[in-house]
Amino acid sequence: MSETNWPDIESQLYLRTFKRVPVTLVRGRGVRVWDDKGAEYLDMVGGWAVDTLGHCHPVLVEAIERQARTLIHTSNQFYTIPQLELATVLMQNSCMDRVFFGNSGAEATEGAVKLARRYGRLHLNGAYEIITVGHSFHGRTLAMTAATAQPKFQEPYLPMPPGFVNVEWNDIEAIKAGTSEMTCAVMLEPIQGEAGVRIPHDSYLREVREWCDEKGILLILDEIQTGVARTGTLFAYEQYGVEPDIMALAKGLAGGVPIGAVLAKESASAFGPGDHGSTFGGNPLACAAGYAVMKYVVEHDLASHVKRAGAHFMEQLDSVVADFAIVREARGRGLLIALELEQDIARDITLSCLQHGLLINSVQPNALRFMPPLIITNEEIDEAITILRTVLSSY
Ligand SMILES: Cc1ncc(COP(=O)(O)O)c(C=O)c1O
Repeated sequence: MSETNWPDIESQLYLRTFKRVPVTLVRGRGVRVWDDKGAEYLDMVGGWAVDTLGHCHPVLVEAIERQARTLIHTSNQFYTIPQLELATVLMQNSCMDRVFFGNSGAEATEGAVKLARRYGRLHLNGAYEIITVGHSFHGRTLAMTAATAQPKFQEPYLPMPPGFVNVEWNDIEAIKAGTSEMTCAVMLEPIQGEAGVRIPHDSYLREVREWCDEKGILLILDEIQTGVARTGTLFAYEQYGVEPDIMALAKGLAGGVPIGAVLAKESASAFGPGDHGSTFGGNPLACAAGYAVMKYVVEHDLASHVKRAGAHFMEQLDSVVADFAIVREARGRGLLIALELEQDIARDITLSCLQHGLLINSVQPNALRFMPPLIITNEEIDEAITILRTVLSSY
C-alpha cells in the first residue's frame, strides 16, 4: 500500500475549506471502507447521507458500467432515455408531476427558488421573496447561503443577494410575520440535518402548508438530506400529512454519483423553454445511477427496512443516553440520527472512534450524527454501538 502522505499534499494543494479527519479512504464495500494503510472502518457517515445502497453495491456498479459503455453524455439538446426513466420512477413514487435534473443539492434548492420566483412573477404580481428559517441549510452557492439562515455562513460573504427573509424555526407565527405581498414561497427542511437533526413539532409542517394555501404562496421542501428513504418513508413529507408544491432532492438519489433534482406539481411548474438549464444536469450516466438506486429502493421497500433499522439504532442509543452522563439526548427519524452531548467534544469523540475503526460525523460541536448506508444491518449497528460505548467510557 502507498506510503504517500496524502493529508500533507492536501494541506499544500487544496483550498483550505474542509476540516477533515486524518484518514485517506481508498476502497469501500457495503457499510465498510478501507484506508490507504489497509485499516478497515465501519462507515456511519455514508458520504454525508449519500451512499444509499452502501459502497460499490453491485446493482449500482453494474448500472454505471453499462451506461459508461453505452452513452455517458450528450447535452440536453437531445432526448436521452435514462433521464426519462429516472423521471418516471420519481413521478410514480411521489406527489410530484415534473422534474428538472441538476448536479448537486445547492443547484436543486437554487433551481427551486428560481422556479418559485418565476411563479411569483407570473402569478403573484412579481412577488419574489422566499421565507427560510433559523438553523436551516440549503447549500453553498451565494443565493443558497442567503437562504441558509445561519449568520456564520453568511458573514464571510456579505452582502447577501436580496430576496430571502430569515425567520425563527419551528414557529408558524414567525412565518406569518415574515410574509408580505412580496412573498412567493416558504422553503423548509422537514427535518434539519446539518443543524444536528432538529425535528419540528408534529403540527408545524401542516400549519405552514395551511398558511401557504391561505396566502396562495408556494411551499418548497428541501428533502436533499431527508429524501430517498433516509427517514423511513420515501420522502419525509409523507410522515407529516402535507404535500409540497416544489421539492429539492440530491444526496442519496444516485447513491454517490453527483445529481440534484427540482420536482414540482403541475400547478407550480412555471418554467418555460429557456428559463433554466444545465450542461451536465440529467446526463445519462448520473441518471442511470439514479434510476438503479430509485428502482432498488422502491422494489426492496428500503424505507420499511430503514424504519426498522432506525428503531433498533434508536433503542441502542437510548441505552447509551441512560448509561453515560456526558450524553444528553438521542434524536432522529429512520437512519438520520444525532446524539447530543453535554459538552463540545463531538470532534474528539469522532477522532477516538476513528482510532477504533468507526466513522461518525461531528455535525455540531456538541452533536454526533449517524447517517449510514440504508442497507445497514442490526449487527452492524450493534458493532458501531459497542465501539461508541468503548470510546464514551473514557470521558
Ligand atoms: C438539506 C440540505 N440542502 C442542501 C444541501 C446542499 O447540498 P450540496 O452539498 O449537494 O450542494 C445539503 C447538504 O448538506 C442539505 O443537507
